[in-house]
Amino acid sequence: MTGWVRSLRDRKLCRECGFCQNVIVCPATDGCVGCLACYRGCPHQARRLTVDEDKREKITITVDGTPIQVHERITVKKALESIGITFGKYAGNGKIFSPCEVGGCYSCSVIVNGEAKRTCIIPIKEGIEIQTTLPEGSTPLRIIHGPEAHMVGGKATPWWLKGDHYVEVAIWAAGCCYTCPQCQNYHVTYDGRSKPLSPEEAAKLVTSCRRRYDVDRMAISGGEPTLNRKWLIQYFKELGRLNARAQTSIGHIGPTRPKTRS
Ligand code: FES
Repeated sequence: MTGWVRSLRDRKLCRECGFCQNVIVCPATDGCVGCLACYRGCPHQARRLTVDEDKREKITITVDGTPIQVHERITVKKALESIGITFGKYAGNGKIFSPCEVGGCYSCSVIVNGEAKRTCIIPIKEGIEIQTTLPEGSTPLRIIHGPEAHMVGGKATPWWLKGDHYVEVAIWAAGCCYTCPQCQNYHVTYDGRSKPLSPEEAAKLVTSCRRRYDVDRMAISGGEPTLNRKWLIQYFKELGRLNARAQTSIGHIGPTRPKTRS
């Protein structure tokens, strides 16, 4: 489908679960801006894309100090794409990494009017000023769920680490690049609404939960936890600093896998 598109509810498939109001961020204040977060996230695939033929006026914004004209009622991402700035769903493709496109991972953030904002879901407005590069040393953010105590052997922990460690504490990071229709963690994967945390805030929460349950393992899953690399590296560093003797695992990555299941 080319041109502007908008997402419409398919009333035959919609179960009125409220997911698109309560979990997904809808940035529309004056009609659909075509971010398609609801289309990507609907757990019942009850959204359809249709061509948006409504007329769009041009408005002026400033990008990296240069005034430019873009169409109104689009996302910051679409506006930047219209002037040649490239976005990549996978790491290394494009100037700005934008893997989840539902507002969960914060990887696509740029500075809008002095604040870090997610390009994939923030609508463009007349007169806004955008800097496409985040300042050195800026704090990365990410939405997470948890921490919660979690039985080892679930998806966050490799089976070969069972044994004496039966419980760990885990967090689940919002945002994923895969859009699997069978995702069992929809409420995390497509969450663009919850307040994001810095790596330090998340590490502190997880550490305190680990101590409360008196366990020595901590895990992160999702969503896809590896998307926001800067956040993840700082999170692990801080977690390591706060928990010098405990262990961490991410998804299915962990210590060397044994050759045979014992
Ligand atoms: S790509 Fe925008 S928040 Fe994940």
